Amino acid sequence: MNNLLHFPDGSSRVALVTGAAGGIGAATAHALARHGAQVVVTDVEQASLTALAASIRAAGGEASACALDVGDPLSWQQAREHVQATFGNLSILVNNAGIDVVRSVADTTLADWERLFRVNSTGMFLGTQCFLDDLHVAGEAAGVRSSIVNMSSICGNIGVAFQTAYCATKGAVRMFTKAAAVEFGALDRMVRINSIHPGTVDTAFAAQCLTELGEAGFAPSPAEAREAIRAAHPIGNMAQGDEIADAILFLASDLSRFMTGSEMLVDGGYTAQ
Ligand SMILES: NC(=O)c1ccc[n+]([C@@H]2O[C@H](COP(=O)([O-])OP(=O)(O)OC[C@H]3O[C@@H](n4cnc5c(N)ncnc54)[C@H](O)[C@@H]3O)[C@@H](O)[C@H]2O)c1
Repeated sequence: MNNLLHFPDGSSRVALVTGAAGGIGAATAHALARHGAQVVVTDVEQASLTALAASIRAAGGEASACALDVGDPLSWQQAREHVQATFGNLSILVNNAGIDVVRSVADTTLADWERLFRVNSTGMFLGTQCFLDDLHVAGEAAGVRSSIVNMSSICGNIGVAFQTAYCATKGAVRMFTKAAAVEFGALDRMVRINSIHPGTVDTAFAAQCLTELGEAGFAPSPAEAREAIRAAHPIGNMAQGDEIADAILFLASDLSRFMTGSEMLVDGGYTAQ
């Protein structure tokens, strides 16, 4: 435990992570708590949330679990009430929840398209809107800007076959983030906002995606799809969740205090080629 996420007066920042039951979200919640934040872990998967909060507390951190469907404005309001009642004003919002579908353009249904936008893009917009005033108030009170970290992907920067809907949602995250950063500057909001763009991360999400690529015949087999993805990262492997969590920690903390509207690639060199 260290105090990277304490305010200058020594008090803890309050953080909320969406999709915290998943691979990157859980690693991020642990990292933020380990560095001194009081963390509200949220997800639609409630069963594993309680265990996650308990494991953070067992490691000496502070955490609370709260159900949150990021596509539902009412659910966000309930999460806001939970945060206020449990820890106070939010200082760090990590819009991490996300889903994927592996389909050609021809086979992507309108329902697929809308389901992905609801979670990946609308969820980020609703969360930013819901907590913006609280983030600003916390930033003003502490004299340091609050931080929003939006989960994009390399798919927000480059095109990937059979993931057109997913790429579109992640591109929306990237550009919303930039426009919001410019607006927050114009309105003197004490809030920074940046997007993070991982390469492939070895989570249930990636495993499902690789299986679907293999099953759909877009790759010879799931195993070969996995090997091809691994080899496509010049660093020689997929990322682990904690490697992305450390980058999110940087964006959440004052170490990145001059960054807003930035897109942070954490992709093992994937897009450098
Ligand atoms: N794994 C990768 O290769 C990779 C690469 C780049 C970006 N990302 C992004 O990182 C984020 C996390 O991915 P992960 O790999 O940890 O996936 P994951 O599947 O392990 O976790 C995603 C979590 O989001 C939750 N979720 C789904 N719908 C939700 C909703 N409506 N409201 C709230 N939560 C919901 C799921 O329950 C799950 O716990 C996603 O936005 C994903 O697009 C992942």
